[in-house]
Amino acid sequence: MRIDVLTIFPEYLAPMRAALLGRAIDRGLLSLDVHDLRNWTHDVHRAVDDSPYGGGPGMVMKPDVWGPALDEVCAGDPTPRLVVPTPAGRPFTQELVHEYATEQRLVFACGRYEGIDQRVVDDAATRMRVDEVSIGDYVLVGGEVAVLVMVEAVARFLPGVLGNPASAAQDSFSDGLLEGPSYTRPEVWRERPVPDVLRSGNHALIDRWRRDQSLERTLRRRPELLDALPDSSFDKHDRAL
Ligand code: ADE
Repeated sequence: MRIDVLTIFPEYLAPMRAALLGRAIDRGLLSLDVHDLRNWTHDVHRAVDDSPYGGGPGMVMKPDVWGPALDEVCAGDPTPRLVVPTPAGRPFTQELVHEYATEQRLVFACGRYEGIDQRVVDDAATRMRVDEVSIGDYVLVGGEVAVLVMVEAVARFLPGVLGNPASAAQDSFSDGLLEGPSYTRPEVWRERPVPDVLRSGNHALIDRWRRDQSLERTLRRRPELLDALPDSSFDKHDRAL
């Protein structure tokens, strides 16, 4: 997969070269180009923003800077899917993670201030698929941290990135539920023992216990996730809970 990021703070994306993502880049599983948006400015101040039409606080990022930047970065084959992080976007869910993981090219356009002039998104959408995406119901200072979040979530599903692909297959949301608790040695820690069932060696019983923990946790913390699941995703033991 090829990823391009356009930002006025390229250094903000430095963590992408560390740990899991860094290893994926080093091993050629992911290629990453971070571009400084100011390279497409035309004035001595290298201005990327201006005051909003209609008044109001904050500044809006200029279309005459973003337009040529996207034209250049999005050129070539294949045409990328453009992702614009914004708190006003559609929610970033595990479903979208799976979709992005199948793309050959993603381009992320990081806005700051009050966002990017809407015409930039509308114009790009005539040539490529464009998603305005929010990572949660809170407002960040800009899109860079949202890009780190999205790229990390997507990279876990690229072939070869995770040491054990089962980790991605079994994690929270893979079956629409939250994952239950996990334990490792020692068997007793600060007088807290590991649940007996996990040391029983009875795998059917362990699977059932894990499923129950997952259902209970989801019911307590995210009941709306249970409501969204079809009836067919529950067995008769689930229903007894
Ligand atoms: N930019 C600012 N806040 C954001 C959010 N919640 N999600 C995505 N991009 C953002």
